[in-house]
Amino acid sequence: KTKSREVFVCDQCGNESLQWQGLCPACGAGDALKRVTVARAAPPHRALTAGSGEPRLLSQVAEQDEPRIPTGLAELDRVLGGGLVLGSVTLLGGDPGIGKSTLLLQAGDTLSRATPTLYVTGEESLRQVSLRARRLEVSGERLQLLAETSVETLLEQAVQSGARVLVIDSIQTMFAANVESSPGSASQVRESAAALVRFAKASGVSVLIIGHVTKEGIIAGPRILEHMVDTVLYFESDAGSRYRLVRAVKNRFGAANEVGVFAMTEQGLKEVKNPSAIFLSQHAQPVAGSSVMVAREGSRPMLIEVQALTDESQGMNPRRVAVGLEANRLALLLAVLHRHGGISTAGRDVFLNVVGGVRISETAADLPAVLATVSSARDKPLAGRIVCFGELGLAGEVRPVPYGEERLREAAKHGFERAIVPVANVPRRPIEGLEIIGVERLTEALHGAF
Ligand code: TYD
Ligand code: MG
Repeated sequence: KTKSREVFVCDQCGNESLQWQGLCPACGAGDALKRVTVARAAPPHRALTAGSGEPRLLSQVAEQDEPRIPTGLAELDRVLGGGLVLGSVTLLGGDPGIGKSTLLLQAGDTLSRATPTLYVTGEESLRQVSLRARRLEVSGERLQLLAETSVETLLEQAVQSGARVLVIDSIQTMFAANVESSPGSASQVRESAAALVRFAKASGVSVLIIGHVTKEGIIAGPRILEHMVDTVLYFESDAGSRYRLVRAVKNRFGAANEVGVFAMTEQGLKEVKNPSAIFLSQHAQPVAGSSVMVAREGSRPMLIEVQALTDESQGMNPRRVAVGLEANRLALLLAVLHRHGGISTAGRDVFLNVVGGVRISETAADLPAVLATVSSARDKPLAGRIVCFGELGLAGEVRPVPYGEERLREAAKHGFERAIVPVANVPRRPIEGLEIIGVERLTEALHGAF
């Protein structure tokens, strides 16, 4: 005796309204509200962590309370927080063609040897998937495959097959019968995902959902799903690079911002166990407009090249473009550089790029970004094998960042000879082979670098 009610979900932004209206009250889109029937008596919402019964001492709650299955890819396990948690819902987002299907086909194959696993494709035919599997040398002996786009049907099949892990490729091809709009629209994506989440929570089956991020995808893609799922992983990469980063932007079962690094090969994605120096371009000679930073991505340090190009601007408004760094941060850094470094970029375009398609959100990139910019403006390479990191304050001060010593050791390991770092990050004991220059102000950093 499940009574159902109707709501209206906007096809553009996914907002839910109780009544039909001509314009979406949230985003103002016209004629975009679509009818969605929801069962009033939702299936019992069994929380993942339910059933511990009575209170326990925190110190006595064992870690293995959260059963996990390894995916066979250590780098993927790392971003998941140590393997796939039973009953969890994970969203894997990324540009089309970046490797989402490949990654989950490989992981699905391994998972299927430990626990019944069903890979549902709405993108490709079974034949196409099997051809790919053969090319990737994925045996698929125990991996079950289903070509289906109806959420209701695939969930029935999942129950029948006894699957404990369910891969959905992709959410944009799925449709739920209770929504009147077509697959890929915001309301369909949202309701299909909601049905999958309900299923996972009620059954304890782990669900991995692939979602394409398209240019418009910020709306119709994974973004509207982020809050519905436990874990959100995104692929990052440069168009030309063969390296792929998978970053956990949200993780209820592990550290957010952890990254896994893969190399793309003919046989699929291979883990890069020691990714420290893969994001350096190989320059035979020192070049102007380039600096090397020691970033800390997730739980490990990585050497990453930051490039800058300044050029006379052709337009009225000089362009400030940052790829891999925040554009607002760039504007701020250029202002600091002008006021406290005495170097003006007025009337000049400034382009900044983090090599390898890596996105850096930590402020440790401030100093490297500024030094690369000055190097380009002066057309002069930084002196010698230099690394740097540090946050820049609005008063021109250089502020410390976490894990200074660890970063410096990594730089020394890779043969760097000098480091320009915040004073407070200078370790008490020297690091062999590395001359460490501690700076308090931007001007000192500029001095040390050229
Ligand atoms: P695919 O996994 O289909 O991308 P997505 O599912 O994100 O759209 O990968 C795109 C193509 O690249 C596909 O033809 C397989 C190929 N590919 C490799 O050959 N090796 C690899 O390591 C990866 C990741 C992809
Ligand atoms: Mg795909």
